[in-house]
Formats: sequence, structure tokens, C-alpha cells
Amino acid sequence: MKYCSLFISLLLSATALATEVKSPNGNVVLSFSVEEGRPTYSLTYKGKAVVLPSHLGLELAKDKHASMGLNERDLMEGFTLDEESTTEFDETWQPVWGETRDIRNHYHEYAATLSQQWRSAPPATKPGVRLQPRQHRRQMVLRFRVYDEGVGFRYEFPQQAELNYFLIKEERTEFAMTGDHTAWWLPGDYDTQEQETQQSRLSEIRGRMHDAVNWTNSSVAVFSETGVQTSLQMKTDDGLYINIHEAACLDYATMHLNLNDTTMTFTSWLTPDATGLKGCMQTPCETPWRTVMVSDDARDMLSSNLILNLNEPCKIEDTSWIHPTKYCGVWWEMIVGKSSWNYTDEFPSIKLAGDAFPNAPSSIVNYQKAKPNGRHAANNEKVKCYIDFAAKNGLDEVLVEGWNVGWEDWANMWKRDVFDFVTPYPDFDLKMLNDYAHSKGVRLMMHHETSSSTQNYERHLKEAFDLMNRYGYDAVKTGYVGDIIPRGDHHYSQSMNNHYLYVIKEAAKHHIMVNSHEATRPTGLCRTWPNLVGGESARGTEYEAFGGSRPDHTCILPFTRLQGGPMDYTPGIFVTRLSEWSENPSWARITLAGSLALYLTMYSPLQMAADLPEHYERFDDAFQFIRDVACDWDDSRYLEAEPADYITVARKAKGSDNWFVGGKCDENGHLAVIRLDFLDKGRKYDCTIYADAKDAHYETNPQAYTITKKVVKAGQTLKILEAPGGGFAISLIAK
Ligand code: NOJ
Ligand code: CA
Repeated sequence: MKYCSLFISLLLSATALATEVKSPNGNVVLSFSVEEGRPTYSLTYKGKAVVLPSHLGLELAKDKHASMGLNERDLMEGFTLDEESTTEFDETWQPVWGETRDIRNHYHEYAATLSQQWRSAPPATKPGVRLQPRQHRRQMVLRFRVYDEGVGFRYEFPQQAELNYFLIKEERTEFAMTGDHTAWWLPGDYDTQEQETQQSRLSEIRGRMHDAVNWTNSSVAVFSETGVQTSLQMKTDDGLYINIHEAACLDYATMHLNLNDTTMTFTSWLTPDATGLKGCMQTPCETPWRTVMVSDDARDMLSSNLILNLNEPCKIEDTSWIHPTKYCGVWWEMIVGKSSWNYTDEFPSIKLAGDAFPNAPSSIVNYQKAKPNGRHAANNEKVKCYIDFAAKNGLDEVLVEGWNVGWEDWANMWKRDVFDFVTPYPDFDLKMLNDYAHSKGVRLMMHHETSSSTQNYERHLKEAFDLMNRYGYDAVKTGYVGDIIPRGDHHYSQSMNNHYLYVIKEAAKHHIMVNSHEATRPTGLCRTWPNLVGGESARGTEYEAFGGSRPDHTCILPFTRLQGGPMDYTPGIFVTRLSEWSENPSWARITLAGSLALYLTMYSPLQMAADLPEHYERFDDAFQFIRDVACDWDDSRYLEAEPADYITVARKAKGSDNWFVGGKCDENGHLAVIRLDFLDKGRKYDCTIYADAKDAHYETNPQAYTITKKVVKAGQTLKILEAPGGGFAISLIAK
């Protein structure tokens, strides 16, 4: 047994010898032991319990596809500790894009090699012949990385005769909480995260589960009355912030948490595939990292890089083609219902023709002859207007949805051959529009809605990406609306996670950036594959047109969804009452100044200006902030934060001396106090403050804002009042 006395020690407990591993600054302490054959860990922060003794293990399926077939046994008990090792790791790396230029990855690592031994009954023999029972032995490694702001741990399965192919029935990782914490949670679901976050005590989850689910979502698969999603943010009564999530979910199912609300213990609950099983494993292999972040300061939850650090370094050699992107798009007006993705309303359904669609009948829709519905948004004239708007305002790209044939009956029809991703509608001139955009220094952004028909997408992927390369697209927004085809599979299963990664890798080969909607929630893979520049995987701005989201929604997402990577939240709605310009009665619960704040508080290298160009033209002085704001940063400082209440962040633009500050609050308003101590001493800055007017309110007066200009320097303090549902944005341009 090896150990390094610097940061590990052995503790005698009642039942077993526990090893303690301290984080570099000593605040986080992990204890590990094997208790009556069961691997067990616990966690403390500054001496306070965070995770009480919790078991680790996996339940395996007795299945003919496993190497041990029906004789398979669980990786839950009967373990002994063979070997322990510890190391210290400290490196600083530079992300291709990010919140800071440098990221420090500093941890103490502890690996416990465990073996499980048992004897199987002797095989039946002829009378008089006696065979000895067979002795079995297999190994599993538990690897922990202890950081100052939490811990990551995973199971590793070396290749070995007795553990070769195996199937996961369920992972049984426990997270025993110390009490009935406040939690910000989403109903555990195999297919969607597009729900409003619930704030409640852990003990209240069961009672609130049914009403917490938006059952009308295009794909819903809730699995338990106490099942919740990660990243799960919690707060204890004595002020500890605890976050449970996962990192580097590769070739594995996405994890949820199921709560035992008597003991307040969460247990991992993986997403099954169409067979009902939760993982097909072949050694050597490992699980994703299970992460527990902890601090007594909510700001640390937002500034932590623990999830990114637990991912592998970048695997793309030449990253010069990956760039931060500000974009607008032919999008919001379809979401709101003013115009359509589809070109015609003439047919009850359509079938696409061509070699790729063997099921297409001989009489197929001829779009050239079909009667246009007059509401199709992705038409040459309109797209040119958006390109002009992007060029005039320094936006990099224009997303165009509904450009390709197939939208007439695209979602939830169990229709496999739904799109071909290469054939434009008759009123969308692929070449002309791309040429026009390029002539103005703008690119079009591709859209591939798959309708969750993944086989169909994989079959067309190469041709679709080749087409993008041919016309000069360098970014694609993918989409997975509806139930997964092949039928029975789920959005967050191991097979679907492999699909999303396949698309990212193929895209990288074609120098294409990916922004995936309805895909699995991110776990920091953008460190390894920085062409994954964004994703949805939560309730985005589109829901402002589907009934609206609560004003505190965007003060929660950075604590939860954004832990694993940036979100394509599509902010920037200036005209919040949609009935002003459409028949949609929904309204966005945010002030105009609050909308500006989201470009800072919802970190992403991909930022959309989602509203209509004519709305931005009405408020051009406020739109100036969207023109100016950066979306890639050398530094970020979280100045104020409390989940579901407020977030204030200052960010320094990449390669410049300019800073931008944003603050967003909930329905109660907030007085932000911003000490400008992050500015260069002795230097002056032109400061423009976009703030809520005194009488602004997200419901009654959302468009009341003020723009104030002054010169400031380091050491000064700004006090800015945020209206209910409001916020502010500041640009600080170095003189
Ligand atoms: C849902 C996506 O979130 C939305 O952005 C997109 O416009 C529609 N699907 C259609 O693909
Ligand atoms: Ca969506």
C-alpha cells in the first residue's frame, strides 16, 4: 500500500480503515474505505459534512450478451482493497474559447484498486468424480480527483478475463445528503430538459413532481416520483452550496438522480436504451466522472472549472477555424407562429424521393409545382434582409431554418425518412444566398433538424456536411425534436450519446462548429471537442413564445445547465409582448435591459440576437450593446451570485483591455454593487451603462431603460438598481 503523507492520511473507523485525501488547500476532504466489502466514500468541506458515507457500485444484467451470461454478478459487494495510490496534478491550460484565457487544473488524485473474489459451484460431473469449485477474481479501480471546489470520481474497469463484455442494469452510486436541503431541480426524464426549474426542499420533490412536468412537450419520459436531473444545485441550511453533475459522459448513458426522501440519499439512475438496459460495456473502459462541487460562496459554483478539467484535452489539432460567433436568424418569427418552416400546406403528408428514400412511392411531391403557403420564411428576399442586417451590425452569421424540403410533416410521426439535408425549397437559392452573404462578410448558419430520426441523419451526414463545405457554411444547428427513431430509444441513452459525439467528430473533420438542440445535457466535452460551441438541453428562449418562463429562470441556469458547457439560449427579445406583432398571447418575463445582461450572465461563445431586425431598429441605442459585446473572454469575475435571485459578472474581452459587466435578477429586483477593482489601476475607461429605468418592470413596463455614459477608473463603485425581472449591461472601453 503506497501513500503520500502530504495529503492523505488513514483514519481508523469503527468498521474499516478509511483513507482521507485533502484538496490542495485542504478545504475539501474525501474519505474512502471498503465497508463490509462495499466501496464507500464521504466528503467534507471546511470540516462540515457534505456527503455522508455513501456506497459505490454497479448492478449488472444477467444476460446472454454478457461474457458471464446468466452467471453475471453485480459489482456491488465482496470487494477488498488491493492497492492505493495518490498523485498531485497541477497544470494550466488554454481553452480554444472560454470564460478565461487560462484554466488551472490542480487536484490531488487517489486511486483505489479493488478486487472482488468468489467461488462458483463445481460443475455437475459423473458420479465418483469430484471437481473443485472455481475461484474467480476481478478488479475495478475507483479514481477520485479532489479539488478545492469539490471532487470528481469514476469507476474504471481494466481488461480482464472475468470482466470483458458486461451490461449495466443500473449504476448504484450514492450521494447521501446531510439534510433536507433546498434544491433547484428538474424532473428526471429520459428525453427532455425543457422544463421550468423547481425550487423546493428535497422532501417536497415527490409532492411536486406531477405538476413540475410539462406533459405537452414533444417527448417526455419521466421515470420516478423522486427522480431529478443533473446538474442539481442545492443549498444547505447552514449556507453550503452543493452541486451534483457528471463530466466526460462518453460511450455511456446520461445520469439522473433518484432520491430516497426518507434518508435524503440520491442514487444514480441511468437512461436506458430501447432494450431497457443502461450500458453495454467492453473493457477496458470507464464511467464518466461523477462530480460533487461544494463551497460556502455561491460565486464559486459559477467560476469553477471542475467539469471542464475532468475532460480530456483538445483532440482537434488545428483549431484555427473555430471562432466565437454572434448571429441572428430567420427563426423567431416561426417559433412565434407568424411564419412557417414548411413551404406548402397542399398535402396531407409528403414523401421525399431519391435513392436515399427507398420507401418513397412513385408519386412524390413536386415542390416546384406545389402551391406555396405564402408564409414560408426562408425565402430569398427575407434571407437577404437578414444578411443585410447582420452585415450592418457586425453579426457574423445568419441562421436560416426551414430552408430544406421535408418540413410539411416533420415531427412526431414516427417518420424515418424525414429530411435529406441537401435539397432546398424552390424559394431558397442556396448558391445565390451564400454568395450574397459572403460578399458582405457574413456566413449563413446551417440548420439540420433531424426530427430525432438519427439513422436517417447518419445516413445523410457526409453528403450534408460536404454540401456545407461546398457553399461555405462553417456552423450547424442540429435538432432532435420528438421521440427517437429507432423507436424505443431515448435522447440521453448511451447509443444516443454516441450519436451526438459521432456528429461532433464528423463535423470536426469538415471544419464545422456544432450547436445541438434537444441533445443530451453537456458534461464538458467542449474541452475535448471545442467545435461543440453550444447546445440547448434546457428550456431556452423559444419557451417565451410557448407560455413564457419565470423571471428567475436565467438566474438558475448558470448554476445548473451551464455547468457542463455553454447554452444557445438565444437571448435578446426586445419586444416582449408577442401580441404586439403576432397572434401569439405569450410574453417574455424580462425587461429590455435584462435581455442585454444575458449576453454576459449566460456565458456562450455563440450568441444570438434572436428578435426581429425591425425590433432592434426601434431600439437601436440599446442594440448598440449587442453590437459591442464580446463573446470570448480573457478573464471573468463573478461579483455577486445567489441561485434564482441574481448574478453579476464582469468579463474582459479576449485580446483587449475592455471589460463588460452584466447583472440579471429575479422578479424581486436587486441592487447591484460593483466595485471596479478589476480595472487596470491608473487607467480611465469610457463607461456606458444600460440600466432599467426607475419605473421599469418585466410585466408592466419592460422597455423602460436608461443609457448613461461616464468616465470611470479602478477603485470606484457603481450601484445599479435592477427592476423586477430586470438587469443591466455595462461596457467599459479602455481609453
Ligand atoms: C426546437 C429548437 O429548440 C428550435 O430552436 C428550432 O427552431 C425547432 N426545434 C425546429 O428545429
Ligand atoms: Ca428546443
